[in-house]
Amino acid sequence: MKRMAIFASGAGSNAENIIRYFNSRDMGWKVAVVVCNRAGAGVIERAARHDVPVELMPKADFNDPEKLLGVMDSYGVDAIVLAGFLLMIPEFLISRYQGRIINIHPSLLPKYGGRGMYGRHVHEAVVAAGERESGITIHLVNEECDGGRVLFRATTEVSPDDTPEDVEAKIHSLERRYYPAVVASTLTGRPLDDFLADY
Ligand code: GAR
Repeated sequence: MKRMAIFASGAGSNAENIIRYFNSRDMGWKVAVVVCNRAGAGVIERAARHDVPVELMPKADFNDPEKLLGVMDSYGVDAIVLAGFLLMIPEFLISRYQGRIINIHPSLLPKYGGRGMYGRHVHEAVVAAGERESGITIHLVNEECDGGRVLFRATTEVSPDDTPEDVEAKIHSLERRYYPAVVASTLTGRPLDDFLADY
């Protein structure tokens, strides 16, 4: 059984979808640990509900190679999935897990990406610019913020009277539908359709 870590900072809906998906199927992969940098984040309770251990790592610990790699080693982590994680990924982790760190961003990158663009801020910017569509981008993580090879995109329509909350709800529904399946396809090397059919 291979083991993934999920890194999350917030409410944890994506983390929970991925935990549910992997830990209820025999896929050769399971979620071994959630790493969270924010005490009190919703993801902590959600992980606990599924009996997934949480490692709380404030920024200073997270950026300390000995501490972070120590946690990765102690859970035998083979791949990392970012699910609303707001700290930059340090280079020592990127070089250890080349091509094995996956992120989701709630816009059609490169639009509305980069520093300061996360969660609700993205949807506010999309509405303020009068965009008629938005979407999700799932990509591998490299040294560049929101850079890295794109694995998957999906779009949704934005109507003129949508609020940022409306756009966020549409994006969450794309995330729920696609993120676990794209992670499964990427980690196993099998076609995405195998996993979407099963959803
Ligand atoms: C998600 O929409 C995710 O795409 C976004 O944060 C939200 C987290 O929600 N990620 C980013 O903005 C990364 N730059 P969640 O905590 O309920 O999964």
